[in-house]
Amino acid sequence: MKLKKILGIDIGGSGVKGAIVHTKKGKLKTKRYRIPTPQPATPEAVAEVIKKIVDHFDWKGPVGVGFPGVIQQGFARTAANLDDSWIDVNLNKLFSKKTGCKVHVVNDADAAGMGEMKFGSGKKFKGVALLVTVGTGLGTVVFTNGKLMPNMEMGHIMLHGDDAEKYASDAARKADDLSWEDWALRFNEYLKRMEDLLWPDLIIIGGGASKKDDKFVKHLDTRAKVVPATLLNEAGIIGAALTSRYYNKMES
Ligand code: BGC
Repeated sequence: MKLKKILGIDIGGSGVKGAIVHTKKGKLKTKRYRIPTPQPATPEAVAEVIKKIVDHFDWKGPVGVGFPGVIQQGFARTAANLDDSWIDVNLNKLFSKKTGCKVHVVNDADAAGMGEMKFGSGKKFKGVALLVTVGTGLGTVVFTNGKLMPNMEMGHIMLHGDDAEKYASDAARKADDLSWEDWALRFNEYLKRMEDLLWPDLIIIGGGASKKDDKFVKHLDTRAKVVPATLLNEAGIIGAALTSRYYNKMES
């Protein structure tokens, strides 16, 4: 199977986005194609959207998908911001059957981390890097000397008696109508808790917020240096494609 070009797809709380990725260069070969996440976001409804994206690119090759929940060997184990009907569904099987393509699904933050560490601001970084994706939820991933620990799920630590992502995600900023500075104070609190637990040498901010780094990074006072993801919100698509490449090579 040819693995130079892979279709990467990122399932988010508000949109499902896909593009063909050049996996050796870590670049998009096409424009991103986005379809709003169906409501309710059930597995069947999202599988339909994934098929539309595959059809849009007239794609027959391998597909990598980033999913906003814990993924173990292709099975969804959580889906905090989607729908409970995802739990324990074999997504590799569901999406492969729906599209006729070979699909591998991974956690979305793990995918973004893979992209960012290989081609973005974590490239060649040695040490402990923490990547936090800021969107509807808070996705977290830790790399030690470039090696990933999957499904970290540190967006759900307790902060002020609630799930941290309810307090410090981009969705929380919008829901509570916070200025960037006020939100940054919350996010700073979150990052400092993470630092006390994980002691990263570098913190990378991904997701939609990575485009707005000039509005909030100046308000953070973490010990570790904070940098935005240079692949911006393409990291998830690129990383999903890289993960598919990895699994296809392993299985061949
Ligand atoms: C999910 C994570 C996901 C993150 C970002 C959280 O609610 O539990 O698995 O990575 O949102 O989408």
